[in-house]
Amino acid sequence: MKKGRLLTGDRPTGKLHLGHYVGTLANRVRLQDEYDCFFLLADYHILTTRLEHLDEIEANIREIVLDYLSVGIDPERSTIVLQSGVPQIAELTLIFTMLVTVPRLQRVPTLKEVMKDLHITQPSAGLLNYPVLQAADILSVRGEIVPVGKDQASHLELTREIARRFNETFAPVFPEPETLIGEVGTLPGTDGKAKMSKSVGNVIYLSDDEETVTQRVMRMYTDPKRIHPTDPGTVEGNPVFTYHDAFNADAAEVAELKERYRKGTVGDVEVKKRLARALNAFLDPIRERRARFARQPERIDEIVVEGTRKAREIAAETLERARAAMRLAYYRGVRPRA
Ligand code: TRP
Repeated sequence: MKKGRLLTGDRPTGKLHLGHYVGTLANRVRLQDEYDCFFLLADYHILTTRLEHLDEIEANIREIVLDYLSVGIDPERSTIVLQSGVPQIAELTLIFTMLVTVPRLQRVPTLKEVMKDLHITQPSAGLLNYPVLQAADILSVRGEIVPVGKDQASHLELTREIARRFNETFAPVFPEPETLIGEVGTLPGTDGKAKMSKSVGNVIYLSDDEETVTQRVMRMYTDPKRIHPTDPGTVEGNPVFTYHDAFNADAAEVAELKERYRKGTVGDVEVKKRLARALNAFLDPIRERRARFARQPERIDEIVVEGTRKAREIAAETLERARAAMRLAYYRGVRPRA
C-alpha cells in the first residue's frame, strides 16, 4: 500500500543534467515504491516566458522522457503526464486565481528573478500566475508530497496557502502538500557558479558521453588560490569535491583525496581524473538504459499518452469535487462534464 500521491515536474525546455539529478531526480527514483508518483511535463509553464519556437517542445518532451527512464523512473510504477493534455489543470488554475491576491503573487521571489534574468519589465498575467498554475498541477491529482529543488520552495508555500484557503472557504477537497528538498541541495556549475544552468553552459548532461564528461571535468573550476599541487588546497566549497561527495560511490577514496588535497600531496589533475572516472561509472548504467529506450520511440509515446490519460481521469474527479464544493455548474440541466 502506497503512502499517498507524489507529484513533481519539469518544463520540457531541454535535456536534464546532474543538477536535476541531485536536486530532484534521485529523490523521485527512490520514492517510486513509497508513493504513487506523477511526473509532469509542464508545457503550459513554458508559455509564461516564451511564445516562440514552440515546435521545439515535442522533441524536448521525448528527450526528457528518455532522461526520466534512463535514471530509473519506471513507467510500470510511475505516471508520466503531459500538462496540456490535462485541461482540468487550466480550469483549476482559474478557480485558484480567485483565492490569491495580486500583491501576494508579486512577492514570490522567483518572479523577480525571472523578470531580471529575461529583462521583462511588465509580467504577463500568465507569468504572474506561474505558481498558481503549479498549484493546480499538484492539486489536480491531490498530490501530498512534492520533491523539488530549493528554488521551488516559495511556490510550494503558495500551493499550501491555496489549498488551505479553498478548504476553509468551501469544503476540505485538497491536501496541503509537503515539500521535499534534495539531499545535496543545489549542485554548483562546472565553473563554480552557484548552480548548473543550460544558458550559462556550465552543465554536465545525463546524456553526455564519456569523453564529453571527462573533458568537462578536466576543465572544472577548482580552488583558485592553489597554483602548485604541493600548495595546501581548500576542499570546502570546491565544486570538484562537491561532485565527488555527490557522485563518487567510493567514500574512502573521497576521504583520502580530501586529506591529501588539504595537505598539498595531490594535484588537481589527479583529483579530477578520479572524479571523471567516478562520474562515468555513475552515468554508465544510465547511458545503457537510455540507449535501450531510444530504440523504441513508439514505447515513449505510449508511456506519455497512457500517463496523461490516467492523470486526466484523476483530475476530472478532483474538479468534480471542487465544483461541487463551490456549487459551480449546478444549475438545473447544466451538468459538470465528466
Ligand atoms: N516550476 C517547476 C520548475 O521550474 C516545474 C513544475 C511545474 C513543477 N509544475 C510543477 C514542479 C509541479 C513541481 C510540481 O522546476
